[in-house]
Amino acid sequence: MYDVLVVGSANADLTVRVNRRPGAGETALGTDLVESAGGKGANQAAAAARLGVRTALLAKVGDDAYGELLLAAQRAAGTGLRHVLVEKGARTGTAMIVVDPDGDNSIVVSPGANALLSPAEVAAAREVIAASAVVSLQLEIPYGTVREVVRIARETGTRVVLNPSPTPEELDPEFFAAADPLIVNKHEARWLTQLHCGGPDEWARALRKAGARSVVITLGERGALVLEEGAAEPVRLPGIEVEAVDTTGAGDAFTGALAGRLAAGTSLVEAARFAVRVGAAAVTKPGAQPSYPTLSELPG
Ligand code: RIB
Ligand code: NA
Repeated sequence: MYDVLVVGSANADLTVRVNRRPGAGETALGTDLVESAGGKGANQAAAAARLGVRTALLAKVGDDAYGELLLAAQRAAGTGLRHVLVEKGARTGTAMIVVDPDGDNSIVVSPGANALLSPAEVAAAREVIAASAVVSLQLEIPYGTVREVVRIARETGTRVVLNPSPTPEELDPEFFAAADPLIVNKHEARWLTQLHCGGPDEWARALRKAGARSVVITLGERGALVLEEGAAEPVRLPGIEVEAVDTTGAGDAFTGALAGRLAAGTSLVEAARFAVRVGAAAVTKPGAQPSYPTLSELPG
């Protein structure tokens, strides 16, 4: 039915740009507030859909103005919305974001309706999970809900792409075993492997040892590293030089793009090579979803 089904979070991003991100006890004056569509799940879906991939989103928003904003953004991207649930009386998830002049950010998420997406509600979508080529996951909805999707996907043979973000204390072995690939940035890789001094090669090998079938490590402007299932050596993909305006959601654009290519039958290395271009495009514009490219807007 769908090439990519994204199960995950949807947030309104409330962004302020600052000269310097404040530390503990500091107050900073920033620019005017910008409200835009975000949330790691919704971002992945919008990224894939804008690239022309048949995509659906399974998520939950509240019956408020932010929920409307998020639905409108998905509609504009072309995402299938039949499985987006609107919870009466709940607040749509929100993310408080500060972005510095280098385009780097700090984000605090208030889950709102995302926290109410239950295992039973995703189990009710079993047929959609089964009929999708790839299901793409992150960890901004309840852990048990993600676990239920993983269980159904494994039972029905649907490929799982997992970005374990925000990173939990520990990741269940069944999550590792399902992830093909596990996609992490360097912070997530360090945390999950507890290898604080190694580099991407070591992290990728350690993540595979922990059970991941395949691993992709995103390295920002330095591209990505891919360790395919059964491959002895990781493949290093170069980055694309762009002027970074706002890196918010660039990783989600990468993941959505990669999931779309995998669904089309592309190899993991080629899917990641394409995703590097999509992530690079996303950092050149403000915001998460508003910055996502169509095929004709890709650099490189
Ligand atoms: O990965 C970026 C996203 O993280 C933002 O859009 C924000 O909503 C949080 O989910
Ligand atoms: Na951006």
